[in-house]
Amino acid sequence: MTEKTFPPARILGIETSCDETAAAVVEDGRRVLSNVVASQAEMHAKYGGVFPEVASRQHIRTIYSVIEEALSQAHLSLDDVDAIAVTRGPGLPGSLVVGVNAAKGLALGSGKPLIGIHHLEGHLYSPWILEKDQDDNPSPEPEFPLLALLVSGGHSELILMTDHLTYERLGGTLDDAAGEAFDKVARLLGLGYPGGPKIQKAAEDGDPTAFKFPRAWLEGTWDFSFSGLKTAVLHQVRQLRAELGEDENDQSVELPVADLAASFQMAVVDVLVTKSRFAAQEFSAKELLVAGGVSANTLLREMIVRDTPGAVHIPPLYLCTDNAAMIAAAGYFRYVHGQRSDLNFDAMPTWPISELV
Ligand code: KG4
Ligand code: ZN
Repeated sequence: MTEKTFPPARILGIETSCDETAAAVVEDGRRVLSNVVASQAEMHAKYGGVFPEVASRQHIRTIYSVIEEALSQAHLSLDDVDAIAVTRGPGLPGSLVVGVNAAKGLALGSGKPLIGIHHLEGHLYSPWILEKDQDDNPSPEPEFPLLALLVSGGHSELILMTDHLTYERLGGTLDDAAGEAFDKVARLLGLGYPGGPKIQKAAEDGDPTAFKFPRAWLEGTWDFSFSGLKTAVLHQVRQLRAELGEDENDQSVELPVADLAASFQMAVVDVLVTKSRFAAQEFSAKELLVAGGVSANTLLREMIVRDTPGAVHIPPLYLCTDNAAMIAAAGYFRYVHGQRSDLNFDAMPTWPISELV
């Protein structure tokens, strides 16, 4: 077990890659001492998505108080942490630099080591983090080789993790990411932003078999594609408007939103679960790991646990979407493997996961 073989350490994590300003302190890669997330979601809702300029200005306003709050909730000062981990990329350039510069300032002032983290590696380590009440009876750590399904607003990836910090990218989305598809379809159905939770809520009262939406299996590959599904929902909406109203643009038509949302959600989850299960078999993965914002989806959580024979690790709900605890957890595993970043490193807004070593 990794906990026994790696030395103890407390890591301060900082995350500002998109629209959450977040800081957290995590002990030994698993125990959350504090986790502060200042979400800007409401601010961006009126634009129907993240407005980069607004995001970076808001990060600048809140970053230091969020970091102070994280240390204070952990009852620690900067002197008590062993290292600072910060999201280096990928993400919005103007947002990333705020976290990176704050982290560099703290590292320079305190002499603590600094570790730049790939945002997706943060998501991949989120299932290592314990539920809030698990201190006395910690759940077992994920065991390698692991098949990871990483589904967020920007990525849908199947990754084989053969050891700590060792990744083989098997495939990923060719067009829209799963979360992006949720967001776009939510907009199409007039449900607002962020789309994932809104679709999930609307789908509760819907019939997942009401509409036969396509599944892009892309057989022979471990890739995904969701743009055809998004277009199929658009065509269905137009057809319903034409049938029930005056023409395909008739906004006065009351759409069967619950059935549309439920059928769309089922189409996405069906493909994600089926391909993950087959990939796990093919690569003899012992266990499965699901992470990223879409891993908050209840249907996905239920179906993947139901259909997978081995253990499935999914982060606690509050750690599925962006947070700094996952950055601190990933930072811990880099720290105990002796990795440190140079203080003059730059943010990397585009950083393919295949370049992660
Ligand atoms: O990981 P994340 O917070 O940010 C990125 O790194 O992209 O993921 C955000 C994505 C959004 O697209 C959001 O709609 C989706 O995760 N999401 C969900 C749910 N909660 C968040 N998708 C489906 N069902 C949910 N319950
Ligand atoms: Zn994310």
